[in-house]
Amino acid sequence: MDATTITVTGAAGQIGYALLFRVAAGEMLGHDRPVRLRLLEIPAGIRAAEGTALELQDGAFPLLQAVEVTDDPRAAFAGANVAMLVGARPRSAGMERGDLLAANGGIFAPQGAAIAAAAAADVRVVVVGNPANTNALIAAASADGVPAERFTALTRLDHERAVAQLAARLEAPVADVTGVAIWGNHSATQFPDIAHATVGGRAAPELLAERLGGTDAATRWLDEEFVPRVARRGAEIIEVRGSSSAASAANAALRHVRDDLLGTGGGRTSAAVVSHGEYGVPEGLVCSFPVTSDGSGYRIVEDLDLDDRGCARLGASVAELVEERDAVRALGLI
Ligand code: NAD
Ligand code: LMR
Repeated sequence: MDATTITVTGAAGQIGYALLFRVAAGEMLGHDRPVRLRLLEIPAGIRAAEGTALELQDGAFPLLQAVEVTDDPRAAFAGANVAMLVGARPRSAGMERGDLLAANGGIFAPQGAAIAAAAAADVRVVVVGNPANTNALIAAASADGVPAERFTALTRLDHERAVAQLAARLEAPVADVTGVAIWGNHSATQFPDIAHATVGGRAAPELLAERLGGTDAATRWLDEEFVPRVARRGAEIIEVRGSSSAASAANAALRHVRDDLLGTGGGRTSAAVVSHGEYGVPEGLVCSFPVTSDGSGYRIVEDLDLDDRGCARLGASVAELVEERDAVRALGLI
């Protein structure tokens, strides 16, 4: 089998460190698929990325054909089949939202252009660096000739968080949970939705009502505990751990790419993908939806009912995505 070239940006960061060894071990694309890794860093991160490359060599991974480290986006994306855009500019003290979007535009616009210029014809891109949805929008807009559908953003971590919280409340194994959905932005406005989820083959809303003593109590738990807990889990991790999620984010990014390229096996997951107007989400926004993949890219699941509360929650998150889009448009980034 030919080697797959995978470019990881921000490779010297904490997510990069938690991700690269698992990719090299074959956990992302399968234990029969050789991989070639390209590590992109800014000059200040090159030395640390080189150190990671030395450790990758020391892993003696049978599937790992090559590791290259560079600070040149064009060299990094040359021939890339998979691009994992992890490196981003974090918010620093005194930085306004517009400043953050502008700083990230300075990263994701050139990277989108470099992907268009140099990546393989079948390239698939996942944006992890925050604000992930809008960074994906910027990269896609700068990648002339690459279909926007190839650019996705990571909400799989939110999805896994929702699965884990639901399983914990019902004292069920996580493996029994299917059909959870994350709608909207990878931010505190997101809507984690269990309306169509099943646990051990039974409808999750029904099980929750049984366990919690009625439909009202189940709705209260969803509104007051489940949704805010999942939507603010990133902040909770930062508060408890002292830095943002890394291993769980790497795990989610790995699963996102695996399912995009190898398929979801008929099941549903969540990913932020470009909207064509599904569920009333304005065309062109990179928004999280329930998705499936047959291995040829994520497709939005279009036939789910959203009740009035669900529509309102999705609407609030989409309003935030529209604001972010308008801000980057005003900056001339898209
Ligand atoms: P980190 O600060 O540990 O590492 C980021 C790395 O990116 C640094 O090494 C930095 O030098 C590098 N970098 C910055 N600009 C770059 C550029 N232009 N090109 C290449 N590399 C560049 O951060 P981290 O913990 O690894 O997190 C990375 C990003 O992922 C952050 O934006 C974080 O908020 C985001 N994140 C997203 C999710 C999600 O679910 N979508 C979850 C967790 C973290
Ligand atoms: C997360 O969801 O854990 C991260 O997006 C949080 C962050 O701000 O990096």
